[in-house]
Amino acid sequence: MAGSQFGTILKISTFGESHGKAVGVIMDGLPPGMEISEPEIQAEMDRRKPGQSNVTTPRSEPDTIRILSGVFQGRTTGSPLAMMLSNTNTRPEDYNDIADKFRPGHADFTYQKKYGLRDWRGSGRASGRETAARVAAGAVARKWLADKGVKILAWTAAAAGIHCETFDEGCIEHNALRACDAGAAEKMLERVTELMEKGESAGGIVACRVSGLPPGLGDPVFDKLEAELGRGVLSIGAVRGIEFGAGFHAADMTGSEHNDEMDSEGFRSNNAGGIVGGISTGQDLFFRAAVKPTSSISHPQTTQNLKGETVQIVTRGRHDPVICPRIVPVVEAMTALVLMDRWLVQQATAGRL
Ligand SMILES: Cc1cc2nc3c(=O)[nH]c(=O)nc-3n(C[C@H](O)[C@H](O)[C@H](O)COP(=O)(O)O)c2cc1C
Repeated sequence: MAGSQFGTILKISTFGESHGKAVGVIMDGLPPGMEISEPEIQAEMDRRKPGQSNVTTPRSEPDTIRILSGVFQGRTTGSPLAMMLSNTNTRPEDYNDIADKFRPGHADFTYQKKYGLRDWRGSGRASGRETAARVAAGAVARKWLADKGVKILAWTAAAAGIHCETFDEGCIEHNALRACDAGAAEKMLERVTELMEKGESAGGIVACRVSGLPPGLGDPVFDKLEAELGRGVLSIGAVRGIEFGAGFHAADMTGSEHNDEMDSEGFRSNNAGGIVGGISTGQDLFFRAAVKPTSSISHPQTTQNLKGETVQIVTRGRHDPVICPRIVPVVEAMTALVLMDRWLVQQATAGRL
């Protein structure tokens, strides 16, 4: 399947389907000598894994990561680093009913049209399960960036139409939504639970901030930093949009409102979200990603079957009623992979940083 590779110097290839034997990733282009261990990657896997609350899918898997190659005596060798997770809690029978029906909002119709067949067990390649492999790779990139003082943090900024009004980093990992406002998180949980009871689902917004990034990172024109980040983040299932800094609100601002003035202390505001001309300003990099409501709902819907007939469908199986809390670690992973890759490109070309 074309399209499963990402990156310029740091290249990742993911493999595996939701209800196949395993999912995994091969990372090529890693510098030799990096200290890497399974437990530190496992810590990231544990944040992404399902079954952590009432508003994430009850599919429960240990998601134990195994490093298969590329590490010797605890250090990367410079050879491809392969990592794998077994799929231990598969229930393909949940999907028998949809083998010949296209679920609205899912990639069923489009995969069928493109390939002439599809793995209908739990969405196959289009499943959120594929992102486990990205999180494993992202953990390695994140560690490399952390050694350079770069910190990546994502959180749920809105879900089910409820927006966070305050920012408390300490509460993000302590509520089911991974929201940055404990009060808003309670309301989100209530609203999502009500929707679940009606067989419905919700969408939301995931925000991400990168601090400690030096100024001057990134390339102009086609490889602009926001273009690369946009590609990485928009490649995550269910992400429908991305905005940097003031984002779409910039369209309603005047030049003097939007321009980030400078003085001897540096920038006075950050409407640019830390990137100008495709290159980092050295301020916090900030973006928000729009997440659509989960397609799998138990509410009956009308669709087409393989014969082109109109049929009714009710989606069974285990699903996230709102995907935001599970997308948070995936956004962090894709951000880390883009930033490390662009850093390596810069070292190989412009020679600065
Ligand atoms: C971590 C993660 C978990 C997901 N869980 C579900 C889910 O339980 N049910 C569902 O319908 N979609 C889920 N999705 C979204 C689908 O993968 C996605 O909507 C589908 O592949 C169609 O792609 P598109 O929305 O990007 O067009 C999840 C995505 C991610 C990244």
